[in-house]
Amino acid sequence: MSRPHLWIRAEARPTEQRVPIVPAHAAQLISDGFEVTVEESPTRVVPLEDYVAAGCATVPAGSWPDAPEGAVVVGIKELPEDPADLRHTHVFFAHAYKGQEGSQEVLDRFRRGGGELLDVEYLTVGGKRVVAFGFWAGYVGAALSVLRHRGLLDGAVAPMTREDLDDRLRGSAGETPERALVIGARGRSGQGAVEALTVAGCAVTRWDRPQTARLDKAALLDHDLLVNCVVSAGAGGQEAFVTAADLDAPRRLRVVGDVTCDVTSEANLVPVNTAVTTWTEPVRRLGPEEHPLEVIAIDNLPSLLPRESSESFSAELTPLLPDLADRAGPWAASLEWFRRHVHQG
Ligand SMILES: NC(=O)c1ccc[n+]([C@@H]2O[C@H](COP(=O)([O-])OP(=O)(O)OC[C@H]3O[C@@H](n4cnc5c(N)ncnc54)[C@H](O)[C@@H]3O)[C@@H](O)[C@H]2O)c1
Repeated sequence: MSRPHLWIRAEARPTEQRVPIVPAHAAQLISDGFEVTVEESPTRVVPLEDYVAAGCATVPAGSWPDAPEGAVVVGIKELPEDPADLRHTHVFFAHAYKGQEGSQEVLDRFRRGGGELLDVEYLTVGGKRVVAFGFWAGYVGAALSVLRHRGLLDGAVAPMTREDLDDRLRGSAGETPERALVIGARGRSGQGAVEALTVAGCAVTRWDRPQTARLDKAALLDHDLLVNCVVSAGAGGQEAFVTAADLDAPRRLRVVGDVTCDVTSEANLVPVNTAVTTWTEPVRRLGPEEHPLEVIAIDNLPSLLPRESSESFSAELTPLLPDLADRAGPWAASLEWFRRHVHQG
C-alpha cells in the first residue's frame, strides 16, 4: 500500500505550541512505511530532538512550499499568507466552508495552485467528527472557571502543563466542595470538564439533553459554577440556560465557563454573554457590582494545554493516515467538502 510523505509544518501563530503528530506516533508511522519530515519550530511544545530520535527528517520552519510533489503538509491552524498559491495537499483546520472571514481567499489559494484541502473538521465517520480537541477544551475551561471562583485567576493566562494545573486545582480545594454543573456532559468537552472539576474536588452535576428538555432554571441557578459544553447549533426550541434576566434572579451561580463560545450566534444558549474573552482578559464581569456573574469564554482553550491536546489529537489522527493515500474513509468525506466548495468559486 502506498504511503504519502507526511510533512509536519511549523505553526504560523507565535502563541500556538500544539503539533498534530507527536514523536511516538511519528515513529509508528515510519515503521509503517511513511516518510515523515518535521519543520523546526520556535514555539512547539515538543522538542525537535524527539522527532529526530523517532527517525524523522528535519527541515527549516516554513519550508513546506518546497516540499516534494505528493507530500501532504500537516498542521493545526491557519497557513501563513505566503505563498499566494497552494499546490500541495494540506491537512489542517481551515475554517473555510461556513463563510468565515477570509474563507474565499483560502479557497482561491487552493484554486490557483491546484492544491487540495483535507480539513480536519470534516473528517467524519457516519457523520461524526473523528479528530477534535474537545476534551481538553472542556478540561481547561472548567479548570479556569473553578480557579476564578476560588479567587485564583487574576490577569492573563498562558499555555501550561496539566501537572501544574492539577496541582493548583487540588491544592486550592476548600472544605466545602463547590456545586458545579456541566451541561453537555456526555460530549467530548463535557467529559473533560467533569474530569477537571472532579480533580478540583467539586460536587459535579452532569446534564445532557434529557435534563435540559424541560429546563429546571432554579436548579441550574443553584450551582456555584456552570460549564456550558453543548453543541448549540440545531438546538432549536431549547430554552436558554442563562439570560440577562437571570442576573437579577436569586442565584448561587457566580461563574460561567462557556466552552461552547457561540456568543454571536442566534443559537447561543448562554445569551447573557455576547462576547468571547481572551488569554489577556479571560474574565468578563456582568450584572450587579455587589453580586456579579463572571464569564470565561475563551475560544482557543486547547492551546492552553498544548502537550495534552497534541497527544490526544495525534492519537486520533494517526490511525486514519494509512487511508490517506487512497483518500478513503474519513478522507473521502473531507475531500468531498473541499471539491464542493472549491468548484463554487
Ligand atoms: N472554546 C474552545 O476552545 C472550544 C474548543 C473545542 C470545542 N469547542 C466547542 O465546544 C462545543 C462542544 O464540543 P464537543 O466536541 O464537546 O461536542 P460533542 O458533540 O462531543 O458534545 C456535545 C454535547 O452537547 C449535548 N447537547 C446538545 N444539545 C444539548 C442541549 N440542548 N442540552 C443539553 N445537552 C446538549 C450533546 O448531547 C453532546 O453530549 C462545540 O460548540 C465546539 O465548537 C470549543
